[in-house]
Amino acid sequence: MIVCVCHNVSERKIQQAVDKGLTTMPQLREQLGVGTCCGKCHSCAKTVLRECLEER
Ligand code: FES
Repeated sequence: MIVCVCHNVSERKIQQAVDKGLTTMPQLREQLGVGTCCGKCHSCAKTVLRECLEER
């Protein structure tokens, strides 16, 4: 599933970033650009990030 349409970031891409050590929204924004364009993906990205972190 695509989380951030503006930057074409999928749930899987976020999962891979978390596997590499990413843990926060600012890091997600900085590294993948999530939420830096229209901002509509912010709450969805937050949920996905939390789920990924819980699965670790
Ligand atoms: Fe993520 Fe627009 S959908 S910034």
